[in-house]
Amino acid sequence: MPLAIVTGASAGFGRLFALQLARDGHDLLLVARREDRLHEVAELAKKTAIDAGKPEPRVELVPVDLLSDGAATKVFESAPDADLVINNAGYGHYGPAAEGDRAFQTRMVRLNCELLTDLTLLYARRMLERDVGTVLNIASTTAFQPVPYFAVYAATKAYVLSFSEAIDWELQDVRRQRRGRGRAARGQGPRVIAFCPGYSPTEFQAASSYPESLGVYPMKAEEVVRRALIAVQKGKQAVVPGLGNKLNVVTQRLVPRSFVRATAGRMIRPKLADEG
Ligand SMILES: NC(=O)c1ccc[n+]([C@@H]2O[C@H](COP(=O)([O-])OP(=O)(O)OC[C@H]3O[C@@H](n4cnc5c(N)ncnc54)[C@H](OP(=O)(O)O)[C@@H]3O)[C@@H](O)[C@H]2O)c1
Repeated sequence: MPLAIVTGASAGFGRLFALQLARDGHDLLLVARREDRLHEVAELAKKTAIDAGKPEPRVELVPVDLLSDGAATKVFESAPDADLVINNAGYGHYGPAAEGDRAFQTRMVRLNCELLTDLTLLYARRMLERDVGTVLNIASTTAFQPVPYFAVYAATKAYVLSFSEAIDWELQDVRRQRRGRGRAARGQGPRVIAFCPGYSPTEFQAASSYPESLGVYPMKAEEVVRRALIAVQKGKQAVVPGLGNKLNVVTQRLVPRSFVRATAGRMIRPKLADEG
């Protein structure tokens, strides 16, 4: 059975990725800090697969803080030949960046960008050798614009999108150069795909102190995950799920960036304590 790795599998999208992939006939390696939650997800994933008439999947757990030393290597060495790697673990910080917790925000940059990069590089190299495999990097609609009061988070997701798009092109180019252009069609072989969901109620809002009242074009997490896996299947790059989210991203390109930035900032501006 194909093997999928899901980081951040203890909650939200990651938990649902694990269940859907088990239903689709994958073995799993699940990564997150909360081991008890990972055990629950593993049991549910096995049951989900069996209920769907699939063989019971092998589910391995890696309960680790991805920010601890050697975490990416530990994941890679547990399953170097994974067919699908979903870099999903991440969080945000809502509020004035300059007055917020610096360590919380710089750890976010490390998790959302550095760890994602490390795992992508480890697996992209191996997938090139095997000539197969996909890394799915979870970005966000915030990747397309600066977002005041979500400044560091939006910047991390802009990084995820840019990095994924560029390395994906590189992988295909390297493969085509090595194999000869005639024998290596575009879109085949190893891929790194960014997926850009908008607002979806999960534990993310609590983890990031993001008020639920600010969510626009909400989409159920199940739907987000379903569309992400379709993007993987079809090899589609930088998919933004949902009509509202798509329109939001497309219309931004038609107006000056300074206007987009100010509109986003005004829309989600928190009421500051000294405003009375
Ligand atoms: N929900 C949204 O509205 C939304 C929109 C766009 C993009 N996204 C992105 O989607 C991804 C998943 O978010 P979600 O909504 O599913 O959030 P979530 O429900 O809060 O889940 C986040 C997951 O990340 C794991 N995690 C956090 N820090 C970790 C660490 N240091 N080491 C290992 N695992 C860690 C958490 O597990 P433990 O706490 O057990 O470690 C949890 O499983 C994130 O990258 C987020 O930026 C979310």
